[in-house]
This record gives sequence, C-alpha cells and structure tokens, in this order.
Amino acid sequence: MLVEKNVPLQACNSFHIVAKAHGLVRVRSESDVLAVLKDAELAAQPKFVLGGGSNIVLTGDVKPLVLKVEVMGRRLVEETPKAFIVEAGAGENWHDFVAWTLQNGYPGLENLALIPGTVGGTPVQNVGAYGIELQDRFESLDAIDLQTGRAFTLDAAQCAFGYRDSVFKHATSLGLKDRALITRVRFNLPRPWKPVLGYADLERKMADTGVSQPSAQQIFDWICDIRRAKLPDPAVIGNAGSFFKNPTVTQHQCDDIIAREPKIVHYQLADGSVKLAAGWLIDACGWKGKSVGQAGVYEKQALILVNRGGMADAGGVAGIGATGGEVMTLAKAIQTSVYERFGILLEPEPVVV
Ligand code: EPU
Repeated sequence: MLVEKNVPLQACNSFHIVAKAHGLVRVRSESDVLAVLKDAELAAQPKFVLGGGSNIVLTGDVKPLVLKVEVMGRRLVEETPKAFIVEAGAGENWHDFVAWTLQNGYPGLENLALIPGTVGGTPVQNVGAYGIELQDRFESLDAIDLQTGRAFTLDAAQCAFGYRDSVFKHATSLGLKDRALITRVRFNLPRPWKPVLGYADLERKMADTGVSQPSAQQIFDWICDIRRAKLPDPAVIGNAGSFFKNPTVTQHQCDDIIAREPKIVHYQLADGSVKLAAGWLIDACGWKGKSVGQAGVYEKQALILVNRGGMADAGGVAGIGATGGEVMTLAKAIQTSVYERFGILLEPEPVVV
C-alpha cells in the first residue's frame, strides 16, 4: 500500500478548486482498506473518502487521510422475470456505467444520464434527475466500516434515503458519515421496462420530435441534450451541480409567499407539502451572472455556482481559479438575500471539506 504525499486535488474535484491532500491512498479493493486499518499510525488518522469529487467544496488542503475510491467492475448479478440486478464498483464513472447498462440491454437508469461523479457517490446523496431518484433503482450496496474494518451490506431501508440525503450524510450515532467506505453498488432495474416521461423537459422533447413511445436509448440521448443545454460541463467550467437543495415548505407558508410573489415556481408533493424551486428564488434575487472573486452564479441556471477560473489553458497550465472560501462567501450571500426576501433558508447540497 502506497501513501502518496501532497497530492494535488484540482483534477479530483469537479469545482477544480486548488487544494492538496496531505496523504492519499488509492483504494482498488477491500484489501487496500484493510491494509490502511492494519497500520497503527494510519488507522488512528481521521479519514476522508473521495469518490468522483463532484459534490464537494474544498476550503483548504485536506488533512485527513484521503481514501480515493477506485474499485472497478461492472456485471449482471442476476436476471429474474421481475428485474435485472446489475452491480458496479464504486470507482466506476457513473455516466459510463449508465451507458453500459443500456448497451447491454438493462434499461432503467437512462433518466440519470450525464450526472457527474462515480457510482459510489450516487447513494450518498441519493442523486435524482428527471423524475427518478437513485432510491427508485437501488438494490443494495457493500461497504467497509472504517473504524472496525468490518465489511457490510445495506439495503434501501438501511440507507435511509431522502431527497438528496442518506445515512452516509449524517454523523449522528446511527449515521455513517466519514465511517463507511462504499465499495460496490447494486441496482434493481424492473422488468418490463417502463419509461419515466412525466418531466416537462421530456414532454417537450416528445412534442418537438413527434416520438411518443421513446426507447430507453432515446430518453438517454434526450436527457444528455437537456442537461448539456442547461448545465455547465464540469470539464469546461468547474461546478458541483445544484448548489442548494430545493426547499420544502408547508401549504400555509407557500400560500403566504404566493400572495407576495405570485410567480414563484412550486410543486405540490404527495404528503401535502410544497417544494419550491431554489433556482427561481436565487434568480428572483438577481444573482444570475454575479461573482465573488472567481466564484460565480451560472448565467443560465442560478442554482449552479461555478468556478470562473482554474481550468487548464491551451498550454495545459491550470490557473488558481476560485477558492473554496470564495465559493462559500458567495453561497452565504445568496442564502442571506433569499432569506431576507422570502424567509427561506437554503440548504447547501455539496459537502464542505
Ligand atoms: N428556474 C429559474 N431560474 C433559474 C433556475 C431555475 O426560474 O435560474 C426555474 C426553472 O424555470 C424551473 C424551476 O426553476 O421552473 C426548476 O428548475 P429545473 O427544472 O432546471 O430543476 P432544478 O430544480 O433547478 C433539479 C435538480 C437537478 C436535476 C433537475 C432535473 C435539485 C437541487 N436539483 O434542478 O439536480 O438535474 O431538477 O430533474 O433537486 C443536482 O442535484 O446537482 C442537479 C443538477
């Protein structure tokens, strides 16, 4: 096992923030984790599990030992009349895995195409897009307890999925934040396949193309088009996707806001509460295109904060770009203005390191 020292992390986080890991170990299998835990000095160090780095804000060099998950592999585990069960190593690129499932005839993840990051990160924040959340297609996952070295498997109920939330985001006594390293994830892709087309952007694609019964591959292609038109490609402009969660309010609170702001974008939820579009709230406060230092609000989608520098130039030299501090200063200013105008405190989605 090799502990790499002072490893640059700019290419390991989708915001492309410049920071270093004091120490980094690449985890390619369970045995790499066990080797770390058997080393008395390393075992005693706090640890930070790094997947695709697509949902983090680095606010400085990372002092805990970074365990960079590079467990690979994709396979069909089981085929029953009701579902295909497929598995991927936590280090697999998510989008490539989704494309692989379709190429091999296992549809069901197409609405989640082009989400940045690795497979292991998807249960942590229960990724969701265009009418499907990870929990709708989740079977189980394997992980290792970083305190005891014990391998364990969790089903969906044990993961305690919520909107952009899971047991892996909580540090309470029952939570697994900084405690579990996910090694493999299994997905349940129901048969017969049924398309999920309820989202307005997809309905528009059907109307525009005249295709009323799209294949899974067609939906995958549409989702890629929709995302490319709306969201910045992290390979070109550093970002971590939606920076805030869409807040939920009671019907009473919503009625009160609508009375003042009739145009507010909101969605009725099954439990009677109402979800508000955080992007609309931020946009309404005039943030689109604004910046703090090199951290900015994306011009086409106010919910996305971007790094206006930091990408490699033609000569391959990366600039410094936004610091994590600038990103968080901008995020706090946005929270304050949305709170002052709407009385709603936006909750950041990425993990601040
Ligand atoms: N809106 C504005 N101005 C803006 C941005 C949005 O008025 O600057 C309005 C839009 O016009 C729309 C509404 O807000 O009426 C919602 O926008 P959109 O449909 O783009 O979705 P979102 O709520 O911004 C969520 C997820 C995305 C996911 C899309 C599609 C969250 C926090 N974000 O975005 O997930 O791709 O729906 O399902 O739930 C991510 O988590 O990183 C992410 C990109």
